[in-house]
This record gives sequence, structure tokens and C-alpha cells, in this order.
Amino acid sequence: MSKKIAVFVGSLRKESFNRKMAKALAAFAPESLNLEIIEIGGLPLYDQDLDDEGRPPSAWTEFRERVKSFDGFLFVTPEYNRSVPGVLKNAIDVGSRPYGQSVWGGKPGAVMSVSPGAIGGFGANHHLRQSLVFLDVPAMQQPEAYIGGAAQLFDANGNITNEATGGFLKNFMDAFTAWVEKTRQRILE
Ligand SMILES: Cc1cc2nc3c(=O)[nH]c(=O)nc-3n(C[C@H](O)[C@H](O)[C@H](O)COP(=O)(O)O)c2cc1C
Repeated sequence: MSKKIAVFVGSLRKESFNRKMAKALAAFAPESLNLEIIEIGGLPLYDQDLDDEGRPPSAWTEFRERVKSFDGFLFVTPEYNRSVPGVLKNAIDVGSRPYGQSVWGGKPGAVMSVSPGAIGGFGANHHLRQSLVFLDVPAMQQPEAYIGGAAQLFDANGNITNEATGGFLKNFMDAFTAWVEKTRQRILE
């Protein structure tokens, strides 16, 4: 049966390399994975008082309900100051509360960081993994995906121009598909 994967992009920029990558990844995914980008730019900043007082913004409630309907998560993020961009961290925080009602737990995930720089967003990638440990989102270990030199990767239509990168992305999506199958099965058993 096909699996629904929510894709979260850690950049709001119109010409974002990470958004281009998130879209390109759909083309490398097997038919059994259905990727959908979930927009996070409209989520108000997390404020615990609003949950505690029983008046969460509707954007939070809708986001939480939506995320619950997916089988797994794919995070495609830039690195901001060697860490996770605030917009993505905010979405993660919103989904994690109220306490005991996190929408993340027990579903498989994968992380890809994309940067024009040479280090490929390693810092953001691993800071994000740290949160996923706490949120009980088993994150695929291999292959790791630190994509550098992003400014050279796409043509004007957002297609990947480099064959080696295309091959890597195919491997990544195949491995993620297997990871989702394996992890979901283990959780449901
Ligand atoms: C606030 C800020 C901090 C940044 N810090 C880093 C960084 O630590 N490492 C890095 O590789 N690039 C850094 N960059 C550059 C981003 O990688 C670059 O802007 C990239 O294009 C952002 O991803 P996007 O194309 O998906 O928007 C930073 C950019 C901004 C705006």
C-alpha cells in the first residue's frame, strides 16, 4: 500500500534550493511513496500560554491534524548559523505540544540538508536529528544527505542537472522507502 509522506522545507524563500530539492525528490521516489509539501510559513510562533489557556490558533490545530494523517516525514532544510532555521524548529515545536499529544511520535523520518556551501548543512542536519530523537521519530541513518554546492544543482525548471547527484537522490529515496516500510511494520506489530 502506498505511504503518505509529509515534506517539511526549512526555507520560505521563493527561489529556495531546499524547496527545489523537495520537489525534485518526488521525481526520484518510487510510486509507493506519496510526497506532499506541508507549508509551515503561516504558523504563529509557539506560545505555550495559548495551549494552556485552551485557545490555540487555528493554524496550529489544522497543522497538527494534518500532520497526524501522514505515515512518515521528510525534512529538507538549509542551515542557518550552523543550526535549524527558526521556521522549521517552530513547526516542530507546534506539532510537539500540548504535552503528551505530539503528532510526531513513532513515525519514520529522514533528513536532508541543502546548502550552497561546501559543508552541505551538516550542523542543521544533526541539530534536527537531536530533536527527532526526543520526538521519537526514528530517523534514517544511511545514506546521510548533506547536499553542498546547491547553486549548481538545478536547471531553470528545477530539474537536477548532475547525473551523480541524481543517482544519489534515487538511492536516498529507495532507502527511505525501505525505512518507512520497515519502521511502520515494526511499530504496528
Ligand atoms: C540567517 C542565515 C544564516 C545562514 N547560515 C548558514 C550556515 O550556517 N551554513 C550554511 O551553509 N549556509 C548558511 N546560510 C546560507 C544559506 O545556506 C543560503 O541562504 C541558502 O540558499 C538557504 O537555503 P534556501 O536556498 O533553501 O533558502 C545562511 C543564510 C541565512 C539567511
